Amino acid sequence: MAFHILHLLLFLTSARLCLSDEHSMESVPDLQNSMYLVVDGYPCIRLLNLSGEIGCSNPGREKVVVPMINFKDADEIFQPSAILVSMDDISSFFARLQDDSNFASNVGGVLIKPGTEIQKRTKGFSPAQKFPQAKFAPYQKIDYEWNPIGSGVMWNQYNFPVFLISESSISPVQEAASKNVKDKKVYTSNVAEFDLVMQTTKAGTHNSMSCLKEETCLPLGGYSVWSSLPPINISLDKSKPIILTVASMDSASFFRDKSIGADSPISGLIALLAAVDALSHVDGLDDLHKQLVFVVFTGESWGYLGSRRFLLELDLQSDSVSGLNNTLIDTVFEIGSVGKKSNDGFGNFFAHMTEVSSSKNETWNALKLAQESLPFENIKVSPASTTNPGIPPSSLMAFLAKNSQVSGVVLEDFDTSFTNQFYQSHLDDLHNINSSAIEAAALLVARTLYILATNKKELSSSALNAIKLNTSLVEEIIGCLLNCDPGLSCELVKRYISPINVCPNHYVGVILDEPSSTPYPGYVHDVSRFVWNFLADRTSIPKENTSSVCSQNCDDKSEVCIGAETGKGTCVVSTTRYVPAYSTRLMFESGSWNVLPPNSSDPMGAVDPVWTESNWNTIGLRTYTVQATAYDRFVLLGGITTTILSYFAIVAVRGSIMKALKKD
Ligand SMILES: *[C@@H]1O[C@H](CO)[C@@H](O)[C@H](O)[C@H]1NC(C)=O
Ligand SMILES: *[C@@H]1O[C@H](CO)[C@@H](O)[C@H](O)[C@H]1NC(C)=O
Ligand SMILES: *[C@@H]1O[C@H](CO)[C@@H](O)[C@H](O)[C@H]1NC(C)=O
Ligand SMILES: *[C@@H]1O[C@H](CO)[C@@H](O)[C@H](O)[C@H]1NC(C)=O
Ligand SMILES: *[C@@H]1O[C@H](CO)[C@@H](O)[C@H](O)[C@H]1NC(C)=O
Ligand SMILES: *[C@@H]1O[C@H](CO)[C@@H](O)[C@H](O)[C@H]1NC(C)=O
Ligand SMILES: *[C@@H]1O[C@H](CO)[C@@H](O)[C@H](O)[C@H]1NC(C)=O
Ligand SMILES: *[C@@H]1O[C@H](CO)[C@@H](O)[C@H](O)[C@H]1NC(C)=O
Repeated sequence: MAFHILHLLLFLTSARLCLSDEHSMESVPDLQNSMYLVVDGYPCIRLLNLSGEIGCSNPGREKVVVPMINFKDADEIFQPSAILVSMDDISSFFARLQDDSNFASNVGGVLIKPGTEIQKRTKGFSPAQKFPQAKFAPYQKIDYEWNPIGSGVMWNQYNFPVFLISESSISPVQEAASKNVKDKKVYTSNVAEFDLVMQTTKAGTHNSMSCLKEETCLPLGGYSVWSSLPPINISLDKSKPIILTVASMDSASFFRDKSIGADSPISGLIALLAAVDALSHVDGLDDLHKQLVFVVFTGESWGYLGSRRFLLELDLQSDSVSGLNNTLIDTVFEIGSVGKKSNDGFGNFFAHMTEVSSSKNETWNALKLAQESLPFENIKVSPASTTNPGIPPSSLMAFLAKNSQVSGVVLEDFDTSFTNQFYQSHLDDLHNINSSAIEAAALLVARTLYILATNKKELSSSALNAIKLNTSLVEEIIGCLLNCDPGLSCELVKRYISPINVCPNHYVGVILDEPSSTPYPGYVHDVSRFVWNFLADRTSIPKENTSSVCSQNCDDKSEVCIGAETGKGTCVVSTTRYVPAYSTRLMFESGSWNVLPPNSSDPMGAVDPVWTESNWNTIGLRTYTVQATAYDRFVLLGGITTTILSYFAIVAVRGSIMKALKKD
């Protein structure tokens, strides 16, 4: 019997060695590669605000190692496990997490399958709230549902790691998880190892105030960009009223590095860039009666950081906004989500306007006139429903908080609630928009701005019709900003900057070092740098002699150096600047961040959550096979049994030998 067990053990071990020896191994890394599968994934990370935490983190300072199981096989789980969830089951997963405390306590980690296949996108998914950032609304009705599908799951705190796995990792992970169920009787188990240890968890700092003090987190923020067309000549004191055209360049998502935001808000950014390009070819811009200024905010998803900081910098008349005067802002024209088309091919845009009757009429008439001039059929602009409680979530809210009399409009592809079924989810990607909707919006905006900036008597329809859109430019920008191929390595972007990443991601990021109007390029997001260069180029006045190459600044204060990173920079006359975007409740002082008390002159500051991101060292996810403890015990028991049996065998043998010897 003892020999039998021993033999069995030897056989099992050698069989396992043979199995794993398919590829020849020559080094320890080879061995590791064959044992571990590094899973390509995107983590949900820990964010903090003044009152608490959201997002995900390992519960302690250690890696989490738990067996994998499919959510549909997880009817009963008795040990902490990594649950593999498909997008079809995502709502039932989060519902069960809330209702079933036994299940919740056994969730050791979560792996989410991306579900990017077009044919599977029948159900919407939005981890955002039903009224995103409702506290900033300039009206009382904050239970209104702009985003009815919003589940709000990204605003909860999870003390376990959650990863979105990449398309290429699905099948091996799926296979490993399924094996765990099939092979219940085999004494091995496929585990996932999560490395999502957050500094704030380690240090026990559980809100923004304490983590900033202990330096375990950094504030969310970045750099907004503004530019004027034509450039503002500061020495020429001839200030015109300003038409401020606004878009956002940042989105949010449950998974930090999958914040694509194709429809909301990047479609609006693309329309703005294309409209600037169209207007830059118009003759006689100097003769317009109003000054066109374009501004692209970042940090808008996290408490309207960009617009609020911009307005504060205007108040402070800082360098980053020199040339602009707050009191001269005549109209705020915001381009929101404009990437959606209805199924019957109609592009329906809605103008959400503020209630300032005289200017509302003017803005609306300009939009109507511009729409009538469009060469496209099937494009319609309507005023938003009067049953809406007010404007939808937008940067315009920050302008209204500053001055409730500001005349503003937000152009959107929805009326009473979002048509985007994937607001702030990783599925708001390239497939969620239609480029012809963006093209229509861009031309509509360009012509509306021209009408608004021109004296009515001087407006001619031939001048209006001469404003043309470059549709291949729109297609190209879509490829650069919303797709990994070519992504930021596209020709258009490479002409201006050396991008750090290729796959575009529109998460705002954290603000590194002291905020400045002339930031170190390494601390500025790829997309901000691209937008800055693109706007500077399109709004510039061509210079006669552009032979000299610049690498940083130009001699003349009215000039900027475009393409500086590429080694072939040129100085052009342009008023284009970076404006830091970070909470108005924060101040950077002698190397660290301080939270300021609320200021009565900044009503939005009082409701600002002051978002920060926890620091972390490495984030990793891999899977491998381990022997279950049951198997280890089996081996141990086998070993003990063998020893005891051998002892008796020896005693018995010795006895019989003795007997035999005695007999002799
Ligand atoms: C801050 O985070 C907590 C979650 O811990 C959340 O309940 C709270 O609403 C957040 N505060 C704001 C102003 O969003
Ligand atoms: C600004 O205006 C002044 C006065 O007309 C002129 O001399 C100067 O060249 C202008 N600067 C630019 C950059 O156009
Ligand atoms: C802004 O414009 C107003 C009105 O034209 C003027 O009174 C004020 O002095 C200007 N402010 C600055 C800083 O130029
Ligand atoms: C965009 O909509 C038009 C109909 O207006 C349709 O023909 C076209 O295929 C759509 N494009 C995409 C990329 O879905
Ligand atoms: C608004 O414009 C319409 C023409 O489109 C005009 O009839 C009406 O009087 C205007 N209302 C105001 C308040 O200016
Ligand atoms: C339109 O955009 C494309 C892509 O950026 C560019 O190659 C082309 O020269 C542009 N056409 C015009 C007329 O500006
Ligand atoms: C441009 O350069 C040429 C010679 O290279 C020179 O003659 C001319 O004056 C320059 N023009 C300006 C505006 O500097
Ligand atoms: C409030 O903000 C204003 C500028 O907007 C500033 O002048 C003032 O000092 C601030 N008050 C406090 C108490 O920080």
